[in-house]
Amino acid sequence: MNNEVKTVPSILSADFANLERDLKKIESECESVHIDIMDGHYVPNLSIGVPVVKSIRKVTGMTFDTHLMITNPEDFVEPFAKAGSDMITFHIECTDDPVALIDKIRSLGLKAGVAIHPDTDINVLEPFCRKGASDLILVMSVNPGFGEQSFMEGAYDRIRAVRKMLDDNGSSALLAVDGGVRKDNIDKVAAAGARHIVAGSAVFKSEDPAATVRDLNKIGNDSIR
Ligand code: DX5
Ligand code: ZN
Repeated sequence: MNNEVKTVPSILSADFANLERDLKKIESECESVHIDIMDGHYVPNLSIGVPVVKSIRKVTGMTFDTHLMITNPEDFVEPFAKAGSDMITFHIECTDDPVALIDKIRSLGLKAGVAIHPDTDINVLEPFCRKGASDLILVMSVNPGFGEQSFMEGAYDRIRAVRKMLDDNGSSALLAVDGGVRKDNIDKVAAAGARHIVAGSAVFKSEDPAATVRDLNKIGNDSIR
């Protein structure tokens, strides 16, 4: 398994009038950027959609980790794939047939991730932690819908539980955590087993986003050595 802790900035906290500028700020430090899509139904907020993803695809080579917080993910896999997403993560709460949805995402040549709301029983993820069943599992550590919330302490046990399920099954899927991660807790998040660490406000509301990513990565990696 690739054991490196990597910070994946969420553009939800970037300046939407200056997305290109903000993406350039982190490019030297990041392989991937996280894109939050909200529909006002699954979550009580709206964010951005397909045209914005298409536009920013033209200005950066970073991998697009698209997080769909929408009730009908099946309908939007293809548009977001065409817009330039490299990975699509949907919420397990939002589909009746997650296996078919993963197949659909993969058939378009993308990686497929499964996200889970803090209120959902973590054991529903077991089938997706089997070898080859998914490419990423995303544990939400805030209620989805808004940036700048506080990390829920209950997420540590959930991260550990998913880490164990992945390891017990020999799965190489990435373990992602999303919400409330910053310099004062990334050590514990990484030690619990997460490697793909989404951070919005901690990165983009800081004075020097690239330096913040370097610091987060260092703290995270130091904590697992
Ligand atoms: C929340 C989003 C997160 C959010 C994280 O619903 O899925 O990706 O941008 O923001 P911070 O890091 O500020 O909690
Ligand atoms: Zn997200």
